[in-house]
Amino acid sequence: MKQPIKQNGFISEPNNLHSSTSLPKDSPSLGMEDALVSYLFGKKRATDIAHMVWKGIVQKGDTVIDATCGNGFDTLAMLNLVSDDSHKGYVYALDIQKDALDKTSLLLEESLDSNEKQLVKLFNICHSKMEEVVPTNAAVRLVAFNLGYLPGGDKEIITRSETTLLALEAAKRIIIPGGLISIVVYVGHPGGREELETVETFAARMSVEDWICCKLGMLNRPNSPIPIFLFRR
Ligand SMILES: C[S@@+](CC[C@H](N)C(=O)[O-])C[C@H]1O[C@@H](n2cnc3c(N)ncnc32)[C@H](O)[C@@H]1O
Repeated sequence: MKQPIKQNGFISEPNNLHSSTSLPKDSPSLGMEDALVSYLFGKKRATDIAHMVWKGIVQKGDTVIDATCGNGFDTLAMLNLVSDDSHKGYVYALDIQKDALDKTSLLLEESLDSNEKQLVKLFNICHSKMEEVVPTNAAVRLVAFNLGYLPGGDKEIITRSETTLLALEAAKRIIIPGGLISIVVYVGHPGGREELETVETFAARMSVEDWICCKLGMLNRPNSPIPIFLFRR
């Protein structure tokens, strides 16, 4: 049996998360810990934490899915994680709004060279249909959801519990062992709380043998975004 480890005067359990998942050996867990501490002290946003967690999971050459590409910031962060000289890593970026795809496309245009831009595939479809656009043989390491409405866009066009649930089920089917479904949920708009409940119920029913499901949140800021991570062992 593994013994507790004494570190900086604290007793901690052995790193079970790393041993029971297929995290890459060189995953930047130290950076992740720093980011988590910054989050605890209100110095990092939910999306920063999500990006930090992705860094510990995603490898060069991976296929990943941005299920809500919006203004393209998450898509760009994902591309930077998967792309290298082999040009094997792909980001599939989905949004129901043409406007969002245009914004993502513009950001990619400004930030990437033409070879890198080829590695991002944009689709104007609902994320519940992700399996229709991602090749069946693709090893998908990350599916990321940043729910709610497009910042700077139409606040009436939001993610909806029903399709979010279908998309989570699709993500669960295609994610590979050692992969991650990452969700940032916003509760400050109508329907947001119901959507959080849908995501939580979905996550709470996942098998303990196959999944590690975790939620973070600020107790005294009830409308702050909530990062949720579903790791496939
Ligand atoms: C919070 S924004 C995403 C922000 C984005 N990830 C970024 O980095 O800028 C949420 C996006 O979800 C999109 N959306 C809403 N319902 C959707 C659906 N069913 N399928 C895919 N995208 C959807 C909205 O159009 C909006 O652009």
